Amino acid sequence: MNILVTGGCGFIGSNFIRFCLDDPQFKQSTLINLDKLTYAGNPANLADKETSEQYYFVQADIADIDTVSKILTEHEIDLIINFAAESHVDRSIDSPEPFFQTNTIGTLRLLETTLHYWKTLSSSKKDQFRFLHVSTDEVYGTLQKGDPPFTEKTPFAPNSPYSASKASSDHLVRAYFHTYGLPVVTTNCSNNYGPYQFPEKLIPLMILNSLEGKPLPIYGDGQNIRDWLYVKDHCKAIWLVAKKGNIGETYNIGGKCERTNLQIVYMICDTLDRKSPTESGKSYKDQIQFVKDRPGHDFRYAIDCRKIKETLDWTPEETFESGIEKTIDWYLSHLDWCKDITENNYQRQRLGIS
Ligand code: NAD
Ligand code: DAU
Repeated sequence: MNILVTGGCGFIGSNFIRFCLDDPQFKQSTLINLDKLTYAGNPANLADKETSEQYYFVQADIADIDTVSKILTEHEIDLIINFAAESHVDRSIDSPEPFFQTNTIGTLRLLETTLHYWKTLSSSKKDQFRFLHVSTDEVYGTLQKGDPPFTEKTPFAPNSPYSASKASSDHLVRAYFHTYGLPVVTTNCSNNYGPYQFPEKLIPLMILNSLEGKPLPIYGDGQNIRDWLYVKDHCKAIWLVAKKGNIGETYNIGGKCERTNLQIVYMICDTLDRKSPTESGKSYKDQIQFVKDRPGHDFRYAIDCRKIKETLDWTPEETFESGIEKTIDWYLSHLDWCKDITENNYQRQRLGIS
């Protein structure tokens, strides 16, 4: 199988490529990683895989019709997994437009290019082909305490420019199935955490700020709730949906692990107090600062993932306790990777700035 992964230099995309290259069932597969290398795309995430004969990297935008079209034809792509996106809610509040350029227009162009390619395939290749769109639980809006978790039937109610741009991409993917018959599947997942997550997101930010003696900024009162999933469990779910999901359908993926932000930060501090205590002997919790809330901050996300469990036999393997332990160990042993990001070295190198 020849797989085109978009956004493969980001957090989840690089974990997905790693998951494939490390698994013997993909021995015969070719993986093409197409990534624009925005601030969030870091080639170092896959530096140790660059010599693999199964792996190719192309720096390009998903909206670049000529380049995508060439890749699809030359590599006889059977499966596209679209991770490429602007993904950070806070940035979407500060500057919404890039989110619509990539998440909406980019996805539209990728779908259009894919449709042209798909139409050229033989009927058996057409049947086997899949376009998997990776999306988020944020398209469903927000929940209050006691509300039932989001199902695949929950109406969309996006509240941030990020989630609005992702919701519109989900609608486009659906429309390409219903209008043109393109064999698509969509996944809507909850908050991921694990290795290689860019340190602007809650968990890596709190780990790095703790170690650097910086404040740990908690928005509002820290009582907002997210449903956390270890990234490798997400990768396994995506692969199952790509292989066995019903075309035209959507699959919710979640960690069955609701925690308040304050619980998450306390857990990080407790773990770091144990693994890497401060010189002063004070707890990292002393660095917590409550700051102004995120505008339009969704209160709670929770995922009902019965569909993927019952139809595809997927369930998260990692508990939050084991996952956060692994994640913190990974960051503690990859401080150079973190430093390159915080000092922006990887972008400087790429742009030839000394
Ligand atoms: P990320 O920001 O870490 O990575 C995004 C990647 O996409 C980067 O490598 C970036 O360079 C690339 N990219 C951006 N614009 C591009 C373009 N126009 N063309 C090609 N490449 C482009 O994001 P992530 O956290 O890995 O998220 C991946 C996907 O999963 C996104 O679609 C996101 O909406 C979705 N998702 C993320 C989470 C989460 O918790 N992180 C949860 C559910 C769904
Ligand atoms: O739910 C899935 C989504 O999860 C993905 O679609 C997004 O791409 C991903 O970024 C993530 O969105 P969130 O906004 O939930 O993630 P973030 O890590 O930015 O924030 C998690 C929670 O922590 C949220 O309630 C805001 C809060 N927070 C975040 C930061 C960065 C803080 O309190 N302080 C912070 O400094």
